[in-house]
Amino acid sequence: MNDLRNNRDESQEIITLEGSNIKKVKENAKNNPDEFWTACAKNLIWFKEWDQVLDWNYPFAKWFPGGRINASYNCLDKHLTTEIKNKAAFIWEGEDGKTITVTYYQLFTKVNQLANALKKLGIKKGDRVTIYLPMIPELPISMLACARIGAIHSVIFSGFSSQSIIDRVNDAGSKIIITADGGYRRGKTIPLKSIVDEAIKDTPTIEKVIIVKRTFDDVHIGGKDIWYEDIVTEESSYCLSEWNDSNDPLFILYTSGTTGKPKGVVHGSGGYLTHLFNSAKWVFDFTSTDVFFCTADIGWITGHSYVVYAPLMHGVTQILYEGAPDYPNPDRYWKIVEKHGVTILYTTPTALRSYMRYGDKIPNSYDLSSLRLLGTVGEPINPEVWKWYFNVIGKKSCPIVDTWWQTETGGIMIGMCTGIENISMKPGSGTFSLPGIELEIVDEEGLKVENGKKGYLIIKKPWPGMLLSLWNNEERYKKTYWEKVSGSFFAGDFAYLDKDNYTWILGRADDILKVAGHRLGTIELESAFVSHPSIAEAAITSKNDDLKGEAIVAFLVLRKGIESSPHLDAEVNEHIRNTIGPIASTEKIYFVNKLPKTRSGKIMRRLLKSIVNKEAIGDISTLEDEASIEEINYEFNEINKQL
Ligand code: WTA
Repeated sequence: MNDLRNNRDESQEIITLEGSNIKKVKENAKNNPDEFWTACAKNLIWFKEWDQVLDWNYPFAKWFPGGRINASYNCLDKHLTTEIKNKAAFIWEGEDGKTITVTYYQLFTKVNQLANALKKLGIKKGDRVTIYLPMIPELPISMLACARIGAIHSVIFSGFSSQSIIDRVNDAGSKIIITADGGYRRGKTIPLKSIVDEAIKDTPTIEKVIIVKRTFDDVHIGGKDIWYEDIVTEESSYCLSEWNDSNDPLFILYTSGTTGKPKGVVHGSGGYLTHLFNSAKWVFDFTSTDVFFCTADIGWITGHSYVVYAPLMHGVTQILYEGAPDYPNPDRYWKIVEKHGVTILYTTPTALRSYMRYGDKIPNSYDLSSLRLLGTVGEPINPEVWKWYFNVIGKKSCPIVDTWWQTETGGIMIGMCTGIENISMKPGSGTFSLPGIELEIVDEEGLKVENGKKGYLIIKKPWPGMLLSLWNNEERYKKTYWEKVSGSFFAGDFAYLDKDNYTWILGRADDILKVAGHRLGTIELESAFVSHPSIAEAAITSKNDDLKGEAIVAFLVLRKGIESSPHLDAEVNEHIRNTIGPIASTEKIYFVNKLPKTRSGKIMRRLLKSIVNKEAIGDISTLEDEASIEEINYEFNEINKQL
């Protein structure tokens, strides 16, 4: 089997943390869940206490029903009577090196002004607001302003294209889009407003487009457009927080699934914030002097949870960095760590792999001594990259938290709890699940597999951060997550437990790719390819990639009469960049006469994956459901003949 286990060194123990009572915490969570989660929820500020800890109407969990809470209040107002008030909430660094500090009080004021402005524009509790902004302070400000008035934010990563905006806005039925004139990426400007102009031709629910000035480029101003600064300047700096129900939606975040249409994952406030507050406390062990640098874009779940909500609830100072890790030079994160005295760095294996390529000299030329903890998220980390992170960046004195979780789980599910734990780390393993999180590794039948055996990762009990549902699609919610293994949440990842019960994540078990840590659905990509006039059929798979983890490979069948050519290759690639966004750039396109399919017409994507990764055919025979060995062998030979 060609999986990450081949590279892993389970026996290696790097360091042991001192002092802990994790066993007691975990036992209590298991034996007295109501008492345990009550104590966790009490770390937040509630306007009204809940009637019940959990209303579990399988598969819908309502955490703390009847409780009234506001996310913005918990991130901002609660600090105003403490010394945190005048402390930096965000240290924003632009790609050009410009720095702006926003204190908690300033953030509070800006959020309140925008909340009032949104109300004036007619936004009410439950309305949806789409946010399509680069990594600038107005992005978290917009999210918190929505939360304050009970509006539901739907942030779209600013690397997505017009079509992605159309799909997401129409599904959510948003009334407003908050965007910017443009954004900076590697010294170039991205014309965000023009992309929105293109999108809103097909989004009938949009009433207004609010534009933040970032690049100061000329933009087209139409009837729906208003400038951000014009609507906030005159507004009062106080807006009463809405007493949202614990289970009112706080946000929708679209993520790729196994069909062509992205899923609108819905999170509420009470359970979600409880999960975030406590997971951050256990895993990052925030203190008042921490400077936290989570490098994720807020357009993804890591940014929502660990750039915006969790750190702000804890009152820590955070770095908000606008640009790319390697711009203008491949030292940007290290430069930021030195300049701002970062104490915790939370980043992705892709970023680390790209830095590692440039050697140790670059990070060694910066003072990284402020770091006390390192984190990784989003994709499996190769042990050699883990060791580099530990030795070169952490100088052997910073623990590494390898945190596994998903858009759907809301917050971290597996990861070392440096705040309360005393265990040995193993490079490449996320270690154990967090208190109160009960996971298991099972086979096709849903039966627990022995330690050492690969299986599907499931979560056996509801947890506070879990998604409420999928927006407008309860059926899909039930089917995707709860029907594969009855009674448990199906995470869609392969994993195994080693002899010491450490968890090792082996990657996705479904048709979802992780390209540079970004989640992309194969079927979503295939639909984008066939929307090109020359393409009749498409099958997408991925190739292992030293840098991005996975790289997109496309097998395309052309329409009758169309000839393949390098020009067409480039044109198709450009089409994908325009339809989905630059993150969907294709590594390799194969034009083929026919795609390998099962008798029932299902594309054998795993077969293609084995071919591009030069794996033995035996490895996939059990994974191609519906196909016989003969069929797979036949298709394997046929497709190889064409390449
Ligand atoms: C993968 C990102 C290995 C996994 C927070 C999961 C990981 C998917 C890790 C969710 C990790 C996340 N080790 N794989 N530490 N963290 N993943 O929704 O496949 O963008 O199912 O959430 O990322 O991706 P999403």
